[in-house]
Amino acid sequence: MIVAQISDIHAEPGSSSLLVFERAIEWLREFRPDALVVTGDLVDRGWRDGYRRIAQRLQSLHVPVYLLPGNGDDEAAMRAEFTGIGGWAVPSGPMHFSASFADATLIGVDVTVAGESYGDIRPHLSWLRGVFAGVSMPALLFMHQPPFSIGIEPLDQVGCRNGDELMAFLEAMENPPLGIICGHVHRPVFSRVGSIALQTCGSLCPPNPLVLGGRDGLSVLDGPSFLLHEVRNRQLLSHVVSMQSFTEGE
Ligand SMILES: [Fe+2]
Repeated sequence: MIVAQISDIHAEPGSSSLLVFERAIEWLREFRPDALVVTGDLVDRGWRDGYRRIAQRLQSLHVPVYLLPGNGDDEAAMRAEFTGIGGWAVPSGPMHFSASFADATLIGVDVTVAGESYGDIRPHLSWLRGVFAGVSMPALLFMHQPPFSIGIEPLDQVGCRNGDELMAFLEAMENPPLGIICGHVHRPVFSRVGSIALQTCGSLCPPNPLVLGGRDGLSVLDGPSFLLHEVRNRQLLSHVVSMQSFTEGE
């Protein structure tokens, strides 16, 4: 199966990211993924019309859609505008999801902490243990904030806390998930711990600059992007799809 993942639209009135999102949706309409996961930060400042417009576009794809909130989202507004299409496991509280397909199970854990940019996995480990206990096929675990360092200091400050407890649990599993796949950092990043792939998805809003070890100031051509994850023969293959940015006045 092929799962598309888009992340960090950060739509707000007058910004170009909603247009980039619509461009990505048109691309996906032709591509026809088997499922779509959105890993949070859909709009800024709770923009209700933005949620409504995103919901309409997602529904028009006619594929199963699963949504996680990010630290910038208004969870009550999200639940209200995505009624029936968010894929959430329960009608209130953390916006987790779990969905099994023929080739893979998709699990999303809402690690957001109200009022904070960072996330925390600790309150959700027992839910995750229960879900994984019932999963026998390859799984992909989605989160907003990554529970691993990406090497960009300001972004690592606002990652998901207690990631070591998550990794200890997952690494002890007989069949750990194929990957932990996140958003939040607005750049595609790839790593691995044991057999578990660690990834972050690019954003549909402008990417964050690449600042590694204090080195910055070099221009790069990074644009908005998203990921396609193929699960085939218990193997995960991920591809970056870049979208053209909109210039002012376009
Ligand atoms: Fe975020």
